Parts: sequence; structure tokens; C-alpha cells
Amino acid sequence: MLNKKEIKKIRLNFPILYNKKFNNKIIYLDNASTTQKPKNLINSIKYYYYNYNSNINRYNNNLSNKTTILINKTRNYIKKFINAKSKNEIIFTKNTTESINLISNSLKFTKNNEIIITYLEHHSNILPWLKLKKIKKIKKINIININKKYNISLKDISKKLNKNTRLISITHISNVFGTILPIKNIVKTIKRFNKQILILLDGAQSIGHIPIDVQELNIDYFVFSAHKIYGPTGLGILYGKKKKLKILKKYQLGGNMVKDVNLKRRLYLKIPNKFEAGTPNISSIISFYSVLKYLNKINLYNIYLYEKKILDYIKYKLLKINKIILYGTDKINNSSILSFNIKNINSFDVGYILNNYGIYVRTGYHCAQPLFNKLNIKQGSIRISLGIYNNYNEIDKFIYYLLKIIN
Ligand SMILES: Cc1ncc(COP(=O)(O)O)c(C=O)c1O
Repeated sequence: MLNKKEIKKIRLNFPILYNKKFNNKIIYLDNASTTQKPKNLINSIKYYYYNYNSNINRYNNNLSNKTTILINKTRNYIKKFINAKSKNEIIFTKNTTESINLISNSLKFTKNNEIIITYLEHHSNILPWLKLKKIKKIKKINIININKKYNISLKDISKKLNKNTRLISITHISNVFGTILPIKNIVKTIKRFNKQILILLDGAQSIGHIPIDVQELNIDYFVFSAHKIYGPTGLGILYGKKKKLKILKKYQLGGNMVKDVNLKRRLYLKIPNKFEAGTPNISSIISFYSVLKYLNKINLYNIYLYEKKILDYIKYKLLKINKIILYGTDKINNSSILSFNIKNINSFDVGYILNNYGIYVRTGYHCAQPLFNKLNIKQGSIRISLGIYNNYNEIDKFIYYLLKIIN
């Protein structure tokens, strides 16, 4: 468990928290949108542009050789970080959204196919599937309702499984309520029904907050964005089991993914390069290595325990306030995120006033509008989402200003 001294040290590694522009006052509680960046990352990007900026796979120059080696070093480290079998199972994309679109565009479907998603999904894990239905590539999208614990029940998934089910695309952690879905049991239930059903896990909200072991989870695909785990923007990851990547068609075409081209016949590179057309986000990929190494040292399980303690503290404080409507009070299966409203006060107004006190939260629908429609919550919610640098002092200040708003 991370102690006060360690958290203080971690905070010092995030320059924005001490930026004079904010009078040292910034309280950043919007980590589910994007996390702040550590010095390791900022220095690494700068070092790259100062010392070896070049394109990859240009084997006739030293700069390019170095860049190519470092790209693969990050690929290898991501493999280790999520316990994939091979570095070739790691594909670089732009973000979680692109990783999901890559799969929805590249997977073969038949007209009878059905897919399963849940009401807890982000728009990025809804819209690509709705499109498939609209252009008649699949027959049906089954949407699993949420239970009283703002989670997903295995029996509800079981009810939707049938011989036409091709894929289930599901979030690991709700970006609205912070509920951790019982993925291991969900996978067991599905694979017991039919081993061929594909499982895509959206790890955008789990990657920086709980340890990930893709082999243990036994999922077919896992997607996330680097910017959600203290890494750079513009970089996403698609992990896929080797066999499950092989069944995907090419996604984009261009340089860096082809071996031999003439106008009649093309020979494409092997996976992962086959899915990485064009110049990648080189500085982001290379610098992401330093972030992952840093987090590995802190240890994701320690991060989970620490954030959970802070989250429980916020819940305890919020539940003492009369007018608070807290969504999802499940004590066990949650992490780093919570949503609430204040009776008779609009969530947007609360966000706006908190912003004036230097407290950054997110208000509205959090790109999960179907969920709010289903729950009939008209104004969305106020969302707090934690990162490793948040501390009790910040939460006390947040509660202080919240009470001020209410009163
Ligand atoms: C659960 C979930 N999935 C997908 C996304 C999309 O991530 P990105 O915008 O980095 O593609 C988000 C972003 O908040 C998310 O929370």
C-alpha cells in the first residue's frame, strides 16, 4: 500500500500539479478523461526530438535504426505489462476508439450474426457496432442491462447467448460508475457456451488502475489508450491473441505495412506491421516506455489499493451529505471512478463552480448517453475520477467547496 510519503514523491513527478499558473491550486479529479503526465514522459519526448528524431524502418541510417529498435522495445514492454504471449500480439493504433474500429471493420461477419454489448459502454464501444447493424453486416445487437449494483449479471449474459452470437464487446471498468465487471466469470460463461465467440475487452478505464493479465483473463482482444495511463495522447493499443489477429482483414493500406508492391500484386508484411500502415506516432510510442516502467515500479496493485481507499473515503464523505444522490455504492467491485448528483442543482452548474475553485471534475453524460437514457437521469452526472497523485487533502477541499455550493 502506498503511504503518504510515497504519494508526495509521486506528486512531485507531475509538474502540472505545481504549475505556478494555477497558483499551485489545481485539484485534478478528471483522470478518466485523461491523466496528467509525469516528468519521465515529458523528458523522454524532448530527448527523442533532440537526439534521434527519424522515421522507422529506414534501414540505411543510424537514426532510423535506433528509432526502430526503441519502437520494438516499447512493444516488448507492453507485452510484459499486460502479460501477452508475444510482442507480435501488440498493435499500435491512435487510441481505444481506433482499436475498436479496427476490429469492427476487419472482422468477418455474416448476416445472421449477433453481437453483445452492455449499457455500461462508452460511445466508442457502441457506435462502431450500431454501424455494422445499420449497413446490414450483422442481424442484431443485444444490449445487456445493468443490475442494482450498476454491474452486469452473468445470467443476463447467458440469456442473450445463442448460436448466432459472434462477439461480445464489453468494458472492463465503467467510465461512469467505476464498477469493475466480473470479466473472468463472463469469459468462462461465454466460452462454456461456445468457444468460438470472440471477446473484446475495452480496457480504457482499467489499464491504469488495476493489474492486467490478458492470458489469465483469457480474452481475445484487449484495447486501451496510452493517455489514460499517464502516457501520451495519440497512441492506442490493440492486443489480440495471435490466432484472433490472423482472422482480421487489413484495416488501412499504405507504407510500413507492405513488403513488395507492383500494380498487379502486393505482398504484405506480417502482423503486427500489417495493421500499422503509415508513419506511427513515434515519439509517443518511444516515450510511453518510460511511463510503463515507472508504473511497474510503483506496482498496479498498490495503485489499485490506494485509489480504492481514497474512493471509499469520498463515498463516506458524500453519503453524509443530505442532498447527494450517489450512483453505485457497491463497496467491493469498483475502482477510481464515481458518479453523483445534487438534488435540485444542475450537474453542469456544479462543474462550472468547482472549476472556478481550481477543482476539475467532469459533468454530463461522459460519452455514455444510452446509459443515462436507460436510467432516466436527464442531466447526466458529476463524475470524479482518481489518479495516483490524488490525496486526502484534495478530497477534503473538494468536499468543502461542494458543501459551499449546496449551502
Ligand atoms: C470505457 C472507455 N472506452 C473507450 C474510450 C475512448 O477512449 P479514446 O477517446 O482514448 O479513444 C473511453 C474514453 O473515455 C472510455 O472511458
